[in-house]
Amino acid sequence: MQKPVNQSCLRNQDPIFQALKDFFNTSGSVLELACGTAQHAVYLAQRLPQLTWQPSDLLRTIEGANQWITESKLDNLKPAIELDISKNNWPAEKYDYMYCANLLHFVSDKDVGNIFKHIALNLKSEGLFAVYGPFNQDGFTSEGNRSLNHWLLTEVDSKAGIKELKDIVKLARCHQLELINNEKLPANNHLLVFKKLTSDL
Ligand SMILES: C[S@@+](CC[C@H](N)C(=O)[O-])C[C@H]1O[C@@H](n2cnc3c(N)ncnc32)[C@H](O)[C@@H]1O
Repeated sequence: MQKPVNQSCLRNQDPIFQALKDFFNTSGSVLELACGTAQHAVYLAQRLPQLTWQPSDLLRTIEGANQWITESKLDNLKPAIELDISKNNWPAEKYDYMYCANLLHFVSDKDVGNIFKHIALNLKSEGLFAVYGPFNQDGFTSEGNRSLNHWLLTEVDSKAGIKELKDIVKLARCHQLELINNEKLPANNHLLVFKKLTSDL
């Protein structure tokens, strides 16, 4: 199998790293959801050596992701594991950090609810969840996001689509996750950082 390359990762990986590095700044474990090619995992694990990075995605992407991971030879980057965010068999382990990029707009509201439920269960107390991607703010924030949304609904999944930022913040709060940072990144994307407020559930 030829190693998959996602061109958009080459553009957004450094802005994501710059926005993330002051938050993912102590040693600990990270679970990444929907790692795709694992290019973000390789880029971020290399620059954040204090972290042990565990990428995950659907089974069909694991082989390609593991090509990037094996090639990287990074000691702090584990082979990708299968994790379907719509299911309930998430890892039993608790993590210091969780991360996902370009996932929430690819899945349904129901799946986003399941993600936040499990983030709350899988994060240690005071742990951080960082999520990168486009968000609506009382509607689309750009024509590009409107077109992306149309493509998602017609070509990917009629239940997918860009989510309203305030709905995500409200949903997170229901799971004791408080928004502590919202950084606007290029191409109308954001990096949101949530903190788990309560003791372990
Ligand atoms: C747009 S890609 C983003 C990949 C990578 N995070 C990035 O930013 O390059 C969306 C990813 O979501 C994953 N995905 C879709 N549905 C999923 C599910 N139910 N559980 C886990 N991952 C899922 C896909 O396999 C794909 O890798």
